[in-house]
Amino acid sequence: MAEESARVGLVSPNCADFATPNVELKRFADGESYCRLKEFSSIPGEDIVVLHRLFPLPDDQIIPLLQMMDAPRRFAAKSVRVVVPYLPYARADKVWLSGEIMSASLLMRLLRVSGASELVTWDCHFLKRTGRHTYENLPIVNLSCGMRIIEHFSKKRPDALFASPDLGASYMVGANGGKSMKKTRGEYAAGEKAFREIAKMEMEFDVKGRDVVLVDDMIAGGGTMIKAIKKCLDGGASSVRCGATHGLFLDDALSKLKDAGASEVVTSDTIPNPVAKVSIKDELEKYLK
Ligand code: R5P
Repeated sequence: MAEESARVGLVSPNCADFATPNVELKRFADGESYCRLKEFSSIPGEDIVVLHRLFPLPDDQIIPLLQMMDAPRRFAAKSVRVVVPYLPYARADKVWLSGEIMSASLLMRLLRVSGASELVTWDCHFLKRTGRHTYENLPIVNLSCGMRIIEHFSKKRPDALFASPDLGASYMVGANGGKSMKKTRGEYAAGEKAFREIAKMEMEFDVKGRDVVLVDDMIAGGGTMIKAIKKCLDGGASSVRCGATHGLFLDDALSKLKDAGASEVVTSDTIPNPVAKVSIKDELEKYLK
């Protein structure tokens, strides 16, 4: 994607906070997705950027994304760059029990065979570092909100100690001299929901008397942050704050974090939520223009 011609943006209605939508997405009565590209004229030889959120209800959003990508592909666009602020299935990149499907690979292959020339996303769980990557032959640009989250908290707490609750997110705090806890997942919990318990969380650094800011790629059910908050408070931290790129906040996780002792919780706006105070908008606009 080095040499670029005129760029055309296809913006989903679920990204109206980033740019003016020009795609119509609806549902047929039977639940199938309807997609119409408004203002759709010429495509041949153009670099197309498709912007769509895959959350909430990732499975319901994947077909509309493929539909948005399909017209440019059929009309011989030069390239189709897919911008997905939060990439679902990114944690399904390993097999724990035999027979499990690596849905991260599946989704990347699906995007590739559907015509994606490149995927742009933020703090993708399976990449664990920023920059350009290739996964399942799909070029991926992984951007990060790590520095912006650190800047947000540094304004209030210049001496804060930044730490990730697991090694996977260490790249988000590493450049700032941050520390990392070590989280070990155990077996799947009983019940309907697919969810592996946190078996152990180790913290080999001192937090006594410190204002700690925990930084992770995502907060889903909140279990990781809650365990990390407790570790810090038990270790004598003066305060604990939480920052993450993606705030999914499932099952009232935001309240649970506050109940666990978090003085503040902040995320980016890859997923809109009440504490999305760090924005990816400026960075995203570079890909739309
Ligand atoms: C996984 O290791 C991720 O980096 C996050 O720590 C994790 O997915 C967060 O999920 P939850 O909030 O449910 O613990």
